[in-house]
Amino acid sequence: VSRPPQPRDDSTVDRRHLLRLAGRSALGFGALSVLAACGDGARTSAPAPTRAARAPASTSSASAVTASTQDGEPTASWWERGNFAPVTAETTAHALPVEGALPPELDGLYVRNGSNPRSPAGHWFVGEGMVHGVRLRGGRAEWYRNRFVRTPVYEQGELPPGPPGYANGYANVSVVHGPADRLLCLGEIGQPYELDPSDLSTIGLFDFAGGGALGPNVTAHPKIDPATGRMHFFGYGLLEPPFLVSYTAAPDGTLERVEPIGVGASTMIHDFAVTDRDAIFWEFPVLFDLDLAIGGEAMPFRWEPSYGSRIGVLALEGSGADVRWVEIDNGFVFHGLNAFRRGDEIVVDVCRLDSVFDDAPFGTQASHLHRWTIRDTGTQLTFRSERLDDAQLDFPFVDRRFVGRPNALGFFAEFEHLDGAPIATSLVRRDDRTGAIERWDGAGLQLGEPLLVPAGDGEGEGWLLSFAHDQASGLAGLVVLDATNVRAGPVATVHLPVRVPFGFHGTWVPGDPT
Ligand SMILES: [Fe+2]
Repeated sequence: VSRPPQPRDDSTVDRRHLLRLAGRSALGFGALSVLAACGDGARTSAPAPTRAARAPASTSSASAVTASTQDGEPTASWWERGNFAPVTAETTAHALPVEGALPPELDGLYVRNGSNPRSPAGHWFVGEGMVHGVRLRGGRAEWYRNRFVRTPVYEQGELPPGPPGYANGYANVSVVHGPADRLLCLGEIGQPYELDPSDLSTIGLFDFAGGGALGPNVTAHPKIDPATGRMHFFGYGLLEPPFLVSYTAAPDGTLERVEPIGVGASTMIHDFAVTDRDAIFWEFPVLFDLDLAIGGEAMPFRWEPSYGSRIGVLALEGSGADVRWVEIDNGFVFHGLNAFRRGDEIVVDVCRLDSVFDDAPFGTQASHLHRWTIRDTGTQLTFRSERLDDAQLDFPFVDRRFVGRPNALGFFAEFEHLDGAPIATSLVRRDDRTGAIERWDGAGLQLGEPLLVPAGDGEGEGWLLSFAHDQASGLAGLVVLDATNVRAGPVATVHLPVRVPFGFHGTWVPGDPT
């Protein structure tokens, strides 16, 4: 167990100084709206110009990612090409054609969020949030809608002045069916925005009942305990401490726990894990860099190996001061699959990269499933890590009924690099009891995060849903697979009349939001 590193002089941000700089320059704070999103776990920083940057990006350790033609003209970055490119229209379509047979028990809304910039963006993670939803009922696909999330960024057509956080975020990373039956869009930077599941319209900012204690930023990856219904989550600070805060919301949406945690600097922390009694945080050496932000970097984080990496274990009911840390090898993790207690050990399965936001071109690094085993003697933590598979897996999805409990199954998207871009081309079911991987190869379609809608009592019994992009037609489908027989491919495909760009994370809202 070790103490977190102490803040260094150059990691302590003087917010007043920052505000003065922003007030003097034409840059504003657009460049600070860093949106750390999600994906295949294969990305690094991208010093392409941002929409807000009127000055060149500052010196960065990251290499340029924008290719050039022979005459030197820049070509589009991969997140501006193919099915990464945004769409402009908001579409409503009813009575969608279905190929195959939709399971009648699928009664609810599948909805997925993503970054959909309305002006050129300097990074895949940066752009207005757009949700795409399909309402399924009685074996029919009743409607499809896509809607921008009505944040101030959307309403004003540009990033509002002022520091990022609170209302000032894109809400573009995930959508979660959260406490008090609320449907929340989350963006990691900024607070949640609530949607109406009946038509995907934006209700407004959601800061929890008894709010006011909620900090500026909320992770896009909260965890809902299947036994208690409590939502555990965290936020990290960019400009000033606390740089990490652990939260718990009651099932009725009341914010009942706010616990600042001492860490040495503002680092990008995209996800975490919970057991039935612990919150597990991972901190890697990806530091928020004010100079990069002021210089107009779309993603102002830098790889700083000397900062080190560590895992923090904190009781779900505990004080932030009681967090215990164990040092680990440098690397980076966007997404965890699950965590659970096993005797005096905590098992955490994650999709791990060797590094990120370093010199490697954005999007080229592979993510692999690793198992962290943390032995907890009560006073001391020890750590070991093993790679579980060589497949390039990310977008992990655990049966939500097993969050924090021993799980045998994991669902993933499997990625390839095509024309320089990370593309999900298979959906995968991995059985940890045997290590066996079963995959559907996508039949030439390009895929997204697999989402499990439970049906039946056993782990992994249910339906696996993902948007799919058909390059031939340029249109999207919603594929539905039997999660117990992934290799058989879709039992049904809902054909959509439009393209659905690659995005990040989705959820299922059961029942009847009309
Ligand atoms: Fe994510």
